[in-house]
Amino acid sequence: MSEKILLVGCGKMGGALVEGWLEQQFEIDDIVVVDPDSKITTSFTARGIKAVIDVDCLPERFQPDVVVFAVKPQVMDQVVPPYKKLDTQSTIFISIAAGKTVAYFEKILGPSVAIVRAMPNTPAAIRRGITVACGSRKTTKVQRNFCHRLLKAVGEVEWVQDEGLIDAVTALSGGGPAYVFFLAEVMAKAGMASGLPSGLSERLARLTVAGAGELLYRSTEPASRLRENVTSPGGTTAEALKVLMADDGWQPLMDLAIAEATSRSKELEG
Ligand SMILES: NC(=O)c1ccc[n+]([C@@H]2O[C@H](COP(=O)([O-])OP(=O)(O)OC[C@H]3O[C@@H](n4cnc5c(N)ncnc54)[C@H](OP(=O)(O)O)[C@@H]3O)[C@@H](O)[C@H]2O)c1
Repeated sequence: MSEKILLVGCGKMGGALVEGWLEQQFEIDDIVVVDPDSKITTSFTARGIKAVIDVDCLPERFQPDVVVFAVKPQVMDQVVPPYKKLDTQSTIFISIAAGKTVAYFEKILGPSVAIVRAMPNTPAAIRRGITVACGSRKTTKVQRNFCHRLLKAVGEVEWVQDEGLIDAVTALSGGGPAYVFFLAEVMAKAGMASGLPSGLSERLARLTVAGAGELLYRSTEPASRLRENVTSPGGTTAEALKVLMADDGWQPLMDLAIAEATSRSKELEG
């Protein structure tokens, strides 16, 4: 018998998870979606997935093995409490919401409930995300393995024992795609400042970031070696890197950016 999955919230992240589960051959019959957006639910029911607009519309004796909360953190206070009506002792709860701690869910659902807090990132949409997960004390090895399979459907998964690390994870890989997209933006602007037409500069920056990312993904070499491979001594790349790697270059700026995001994540925690 296969496990029943209840997904609560089927926006960008929830939708990516469903696509990943279907690609990984999870049974359509085992996935149920709750989302108030009827456009979303209709698109899922059209594909044979059960979808309802409210928790109260779930079938009477429906008992999932796992509930995945993929709603915005700010609606969590209203969203979570009705799920207490499930048999919480035989269900594992996964949350992918930023800033919502294991203790937060234990307070609502009960201290003996198995909870996994996970932080994915948007490349999950193309099954190339990286998710970091942390299980509550009550999470068994079997439950953890099942959660791993669910999260792995959208990319790689790492586990940490110390939940305190999730703030830095949120800052680094959770928000990381935005910094990389910004890199494409600033490179394009710099290319224009050096005389390239805007369309060409944007295309060069975009495809360079995408191609270098793919090379990094496929290579087993460290990033520093791949960088060295395109840097001839005394050449043009070396001149640019003198600026970027100077004492006031990218490293201190990135240190500051990640530190600021980490402390913001701590502030938002609840
Ligand atoms: N996007 C990221 O980069 C990222 C990265 C890591 C983690 N996350 C986390 O992932 C979670 C989801 O983010 P997202 O970007 O996927 O948000 P999203 O696109 O806004 O999706 C959330 C979905 O939940 C629905 N929803 C609202 N109230 C609900 C309820 N009571 N029951 C069921 N569904 C409900 C929303 O419907 P309506 O639109 O009709 O309200 C929407 O379809 C957030 O907690 C976020 O912190 C996001």
